Amino acid sequence: MVLSERSLKLGDNPIRKLVPLSLRAEADGVEVLKLNIGQPDIITPRPALDVLQNYKPDILKYGRAKGKETLRSTIASHYNSHVTYDISSDEVFVTTGASEAILLTFFSALDHGDEVIIPQPCYANYIGYAKMAGLHIKALDCDIEDGFVLPFIQDFEECISQKTKAILLCNPNNPTGQYYAKDDLEALAKLVKKHNLVLIVDEVYRPFVYDDTFHSALSLSEILESVIVIDSISKTFSACGARIGCIVSRNKAFLNAVQGYAQLRLCPPDIAQEIAIACYQSYSSYFPKVKEEYRKRRNTAYQRLSKIEGFKTYKPNAAFYNIIELPVASADHFCEWLLRDFRLNNQTLMLAPANGFYLDRKRGKKQVRLAFVLNCDKLNQAFDVLEAALETYEELKV
Ligand SMILES: Cc1ncc(COP(=O)(O)O)c(C=O)c1O
Repeated sequence: MVLSERSLKLGDNPIRKLVPLSLRAEADGVEVLKLNIGQPDIITPRPALDVLQNYKPDILKYGRAKGKETLRSTIASHYNSHVTYDISSDEVFVTTGASEAILLTFFSALDHGDEVIIPQPCYANYIGYAKMAGLHIKALDCDIEDGFVLPFIQDFEECISQKTKAILLCNPNNPTGQYYAKDDLEALAKLVKKHNLVLIVDEVYRPFVYDDTFHSALSLSEILESVIVIDSISKTFSACGARIGCIVSRNKAFLNAVQGYAQLRLCPPDIAQEIAIACYQSYSSYFPKVKEEYRKRRNTAYQRLSKIEGFKTYKPNAAFYNIIELPVASADHFCEWLLRDFRLNNQTLMLAPANGFYLDRKRGKKQVRLAFVLNCDKLNQAFDVLEAALETYEELKV
């Protein structure tokens, strides 16, 4: 069969490409400490798991394309009770994870050939989804030297061409673990207004901000009609497998367009929506402890990483990721070598080479992304492995 050109251009997934090597190490009885993927290890809220026991419908029916009213109003009141956004349930559109929300947003707000500005490194799937939707990404470089802060507004403005339709931000950011504060967002809002753009903000890590107060793009009163927020229960509630996310927007025309595409996939799964309702209802009793756990992990990681010689790093202030620059020529090679050849106390380490988070894969060649999805004891073991591995790797070079 001759595959489509689109498929041939898609490229590999930077996070999953090391899986065969990891499986081989595990088959040999080695413990692989996995810091490569944002799959939280924290238990999902109990009431959400109980839904699985108590869900007993007679018929598993199709539901509404935009999701159940009970879930949409639960999400709206969740937002409204934490910050006064005054969101109504009609402004919330339920999707099959934030993943589908990104795709529906691209299809509904942007045309084939349109340009979207994205600071990089960025969540790798934006690149794949942009290819699916025929969009051109204009990547705006952020730098590890200054902790991947948001580029200057002038830099954004210089990227804008006739074809530029949108700016896409991930806030808090995966893969950098950095949060862009209120001032940054307000400055961007002015630019969006001046050039009549759309601001898409992926807020799936919205409550994971450790040293500041989270400021949502939903609060940008100057450009309310031009803001699209993407959210999900995957990370906040450790519920990646439920596949529930949402789009939030005050722009009715945009939501109608989303409805048109969403009707093609009929509806999000019913049981998962019930799970999502239970998640949101558990937020106050559940999330504060989760956040403290991630804060501890972030602190442990920073303490250890800042002591290792030859590293470039910074203290991430949000989400549960950190990019580090290693003293190696190729992080790709180092990550493969770890899984294939390096063991410390029968353990090894799985990291995500960071070049997959850049549009141009020649960038970030020495960088890896860590996800703090192991407890502090295991994290310490992971850093023991990393330190010992770097010493051995260095010796191999000579
Ligand atoms: C920034 C970002 N957006 C979206 C997603 C996808 O989320 P979901 O599981 O809700 O599809 C992820 C998953 O890792 C992510 O990190």
